[in-house]
Amino acid sequence: MSHTITLIPGDGIGPEVTEAVVRILHVAGVAIDWDRQEAGVVAFERYKTALPVELLDSVRRTRVALKGPVTTPIGEGFTSVNVGLRKALDLFVNLRPVWSLPGVPTRYTNIDLIIVRENTEDLYSGLEHEVVPGVVESLKIITEKASRRISEYAFAHARRLGRKKVTAVHKANIMKLSDGLFIRTSRDVARQYTDIVYEEKIVDAACMLLVMKPEQFDVLVMPNLYGDIVSDLCAGLVGGLGVVPGANLGVDSAVFEAVHGSAPDIAGKNLANPTALLLSALLMLRHLGETSAADRIQRALEAVLAKGAVRTRDLDGSSTTSEFTSAVCAAIEAGV
Ligand code: NAI
Repeated sequence: MSHTITLIPGDGIGPEVTEAVVRILHVAGVAIDWDRQEAGVVAFERYKTALPVELLDSVRRTRVALKGPVTTPIGEGFTSVNVGLRKALDLFVNLRPVWSLPGVPTRYTNIDLIIVRENTEDLYSGLEHEVVPGVVESLKIITEKASRRISEYAFAHARRLGRKKVTAVHKANIMKLSDGLFIRTSRDVARQYTDIVYEEKIVDAACMLLVMKPEQFDVLVMPNLYGDIVSDLCAGLVGGLGVVPGANLGVDSAVFEAVHGSAPDIAGKNLANPTALLLSALLMLRHLGETSAADRIQRALEAVLAKGAVRTRDLDGSSTTSEFTSAVCAAIEAGV
């Protein structure tokens, strides 16, 4: 069966890693009709908006997108396309599984974490204003509805995967009302999941414990901002941003994208690691029921990483994006 999927190459390293993944999926024989859509600076030039309605219509139609990173101007310019897309499509879950890959040099070998980040509110509501010159205000919005549905997703996902523990991460000692509501709601949801251990950790302590004893965590659920920061920290435990996938999930549609950004420092140089986007595409294939193709590609990817002869620079290798992509394609063709 052929799938129609929206492809958003994005900018920076986005076009390089998306082309790598499209090539690998093609070699693996997955039949996909890609509907290519522009976002960010590239879209702005053509549509006068960074998040064109054509892109949103495409995802509403196909219900599934694979997305490269999109640059957000710092301190000025258009608001984040990534945040806008998540809000427009109500992609309330940001799922970021983080696990140790074979052959990737890291301090730890036994990481197996799932970060569940609320994706629609918190300090990402984009509600900021200058009260008087020299004083600005950014609003942190936490609602009972969004807190409940993200906690429910985290517990249900934990149960589906046979995971044992959910940790809610917060700062309710300081933000008693906003994070207080988040944590009270998590506790309430936890009461319906007596088979899963529930615990709470204040975000600063959680960061220290994740670095010192990551094996004590299992599934972590948290508001948007902490999720953004903690998932990059966790990426650092398993080899960096080049190897961590992600999925933005809603009721009607799903957008799969790596945790990393557009990496302007290496963009256009054929140096980016396509593994993170490839693993995001494997989450997408599983979401579409293409389990055996996903398993085949994952075996090939892991075999290349484990062998270590072809590795990108972020993993202490010297191979280019295209060389790494060719090695994964060759492993698929060899039926590894
Ligand atoms: P970044 O994730 O783009 O890069 C951080 C560091 O990780 C850089 O040294 C980069 O070279 C490296 N890196 C990232 N991905 C890599 C890969 N696949 N292979 C090898 N090395 C990789 O974060 P940064 O620099 O803070 O953000 C750059 C831009 O990306 C910003 O405009 C930011 O807003 C945007 N961004 C977009 C996201 C998205 O589209 N979902 C997510 C995060 C950031």
